[in-house]
Amino acid sequence: MQIAKKLQNVKPSATLAISAKAMDLRAQGRSIVSLSVGEPDFGTPAHIREAAKAALDAGFTRYTQVPGIPELREAVAGYFNGHYGTSAAMEATMVTNGGKQALYNVIQALLNPGDQVLIPGPYWVSYPAMVQLADAEPVVVPSGAEQGFKITPADLDAARTPRTRMLLLNSPSNPTGVHYSAAELTALAEWAVARDVFIVSDEIYDRLVYAPARPVSLAPFWERHPEHVAVVNGLSKSFAMTGWRVGFVLAHPDLVKAMSKIQGQSTSNICSIAQKAAVAALTGPTDFMDTMCEAFARRRELAHGIVSSWPGVVCPRPDGAFYVFPDVSALYTERMPDSTAMCTVLLEEAGVAAVPGAAFGDDRCVRFSYALDDRTLTEALDKVAGVIVP
Ligand SMILES: Cc1ncc(COP(=O)(O)O)c(C=O)c1O
Repeated sequence: MQIAKKLQNVKPSATLAISAKAMDLRAQGRSIVSLSVGEPDFGTPAHIREAAKAALDAGFTRYTQVPGIPELREAVAGYFNGHYGTSAAMEATMVTNGGKQALYNVIQALLNPGDQVLIPGPYWVSYPAMVQLADAEPVVVPSGAEQGFKITPADLDAARTPRTRMLLLNSPSNPTGVHYSAAELTALAEWAVARDVFIVSDEIYDRLVYAPARPVSLAPFWERHPEHVAVVNGLSKSFAMTGWRVGFVLAHPDLVKAMSKIQGQSTSNICSIAQKAAVAALTGPTDFMDTMCEAFARRRELAHGIVSSWPGVVCPRPDGAFYVFPDVSALYTERMPDSTAMCTVLLEEAGVAAVPGAAFGDDRCVRFSYALDDRTLTEALDKVAGVIVP
């Protein structure tokens, strides 16, 4: 088979690879606990499921407008306006197949071959691949556990070249859980706008932040600089709706039109039934989110407390999402010289699936998800310690 050259450097998703390996072991009868999951362990709330059933029964099963039904686009605008004080209109929004397609659309719509994209590291696995698929070049701006996994405008300055066209921000972050304050995020955005660099702000975990941290968005900044910012979000994480595939974006109406062109020639509208469910999600009660956040905040303390007690391990305390990303390199041995080897040993000997930090651009770390019940989480991390702590 002759596969397109541009795919040669694109890596398959490491998180999906670990899940596949865990599934193989389970099929062989092994009991495996997954600390590699990237989704809440909560079910989609009943009122959202009911809206989907009603849509199905009403025969709402045909093609819709490519960027989403007007009712949903209004609800998306309402999400930003209600939470972040913007006055966005429907024309500045678009509905996509998960946050993933929103990112893909923005990247395809804005980049030309050879453009460079600044990606703070550790980064979510799909960013470099998406940039490469647009024939552009990912430029990682690294930050380590010792600096709290945060970058500053000075770090961006050091990485910038005349080809820098875009900056991809993600707060709260997957994999680190690090959450930038409004002042820190705005300082990075100001840096970019002053240099004509476009900012994509991936805010898929915006509601999943734990006190004293508060949700932060670049939506108000977008309102001041609509030609320089796109805000990506979706229902997957905060609404426990990963399988429904509902993402959305807040962007300049011209960019929305360009992205609709891409989506119209590739996937068209997202599932019509999921769109009706999404309207219910965005306009209905959100008390379930408090329950979810309470559980995640408690498990964050648990997981962070356990991994930080391991000798030599450094782990900034996450303020959001549902991951801890400890630097475990002090525990590397001849048998486990890097994050991939450590995760392989963990899977085989402890029966615990975790994701190697190498997949996120930091081979000193391992990502553990805490999106599972307190007891299973504690037991699994104890098993991990049994294998890696001398
Ligand atoms: C940082 C980040 N952005 C975007 C996504 C994509 O989410 P979705 O399932 O809505 O496509 C994920 C999912 O894991 C993520 O972690």
